Amino acid sequence: MTSMNSNNEIKYSFPEGFWWGSSASATQTEGAADIDGKGKNIWDHWYEIEPNRFFDGVGPENTSQFYYKYKEDIKLMKEIGHNSFRLSISWARLIPNGTGEINPKAVEFYNRVIDELLGNGIEPFVNLFHFDMPMELQKLGGWENRDVVDAYEVYAKTCFELFGDRVKKWFTHNEPIVPVEGGYLYDFHYPNEINFGKAVQVAYHTILSSAKAIKVYKELNQGGKIGIILNLTPSYPRSRNLADVKASVLADAFFNRSFLDPSVKGEFPEELVQILKEEGFMPAVENGDLELIKDNTVDILGVNYYQPRRVKAKENLPNPDAPFMPERFFDNYVMPGRKMNPHRGWEIYEKGVYDILVNLKDNYGNIECFISENGMGVEGEEKFRDESGVIQDDYRIEFIREHLKWVHKAHQEGSNVKGYHLWTFMDNWSWTNAYKNRYGFVSVNLAKDGERTIKKSGQWFKTVSEHNGF
Ligand code: BG6
Repeated sequence: MTSMNSNNEIKYSFPEGFWWGSSASATQTEGAADIDGKGKNIWDHWYEIEPNRFFDGVGPENTSQFYYKYKEDIKLMKEIGHNSFRLSISWARLIPNGTGEINPKAVEFYNRVIDELLGNGIEPFVNLFHFDMPMELQKLGGWENRDVVDAYEVYAKTCFELFGDRVKKWFTHNEPIVPVEGGYLYDFHYPNEINFGKAVQVAYHTILSSAKAIKVYKELNQGGKIGIILNLTPSYPRSRNLADVKASVLADAFFNRSFLDPSVKGEFPEELVQILKEEGFMPAVENGDLELIKDNTVDILGVNYYQPRRVKAKENLPNPDAPFMPERFFDNYVMPGRKMNPHRGWEIYEKGVYDILVNLKDNYGNIECFISENGMGVEGEEKFRDESGVIQDDYRIEFIREHLKWVHKAHQEGSNVKGYHLWTFMDNWSWTNAYKNRYGFVSVNLAKDGERTIKKSGQWFKTVSEHNGF
């Protein structure tokens, strides 16, 4: 068996109760985007006006049909050894206009999903926001507008009150830097602006919203934990030359510490604040905000890790007339000889996951954490399906196993890491990439009404979970 060494012994054994599972999000899996009272979110809207921006023109209307097939899917989760699963609530499904009336059909749906998970011995980890701003709130400016922070606080409280009797792990946001990058810097999320000042305000309001939700959760005293999920892509410098190192420190401040420091320490990275001040990009901050952020940090941290970021000092002076971008301080660097996932064009650097965990141990109070996303996207994965209908994804097994070895080492050295969730349970719709890159333990055949088939990696994961190691 691949999961054991030649003596059939477990070489990499994980602590009792380690969380084995996967993660997913509402817009990417539920489908049923336009029925049972769900309001539109930015993805429904963007697809309506620019379907050409989505791979193969496939939109978010009917993604993977979890809304209808959740029982079958949860059964499969159990079958492949899940003891935990992260989903998100669709804000626009629960509160169609973003504020105001609650949609009873949504309450029913999420209750049924939560109960079904618990009934199968799978702990639900619930995330409140995974890139899917309700359209009615985006019309007001989305996270640019402080009123939306207040609306989010009410939405979060509603979720805790409705589901917090059973859900004991909550997350305020998934990868909150991504809507900042996609929506306000690099044009891959609606509203497709390129505006550094707005990007900073959006980031600041997102951090504030997280602290407000944490405060509300603590006040309700429901006995669970609340955290945030961050993509902590490490920034490696090209060399030890000071100019390269400085470039990596600033890239890290922009893309990692911008959310990590306020979430865990309740403060903002000095280097970043200094740049914002010097360049005139400080966000609008109200009295009491900074104290609120300081006092309401996370209990638990989800770590998403796919690939490293490599940077070097700038090759050329920045064009003073170009819009202000973080890349004013570094250039991206393509390391010769790097290991690649050729099916997605991303570097594979397994040790990155260890470096993140050691950093959290040494510099962030060894906060309780888990790997909340890690995974391997494969374009054209159908070609790996054998005659029996199973996708033979040995490359994914190797990817997971090699990352888990580093997670194990970090744990041996004292990291407070509690689990590993793959991105993702079943192939799903991934924003503008739609169904291009497949990540699941379970394949979804779009040509056959979304037929599910467990991949080889799903079968392998079951043995890992059963043995609590490999
Ligand atoms: C993660 C996101 O960063 O990347 C997911 O949290 C997303 O929502 C995943 O689906 C994979 O992205 P892609 O572009 O390779 O399909």
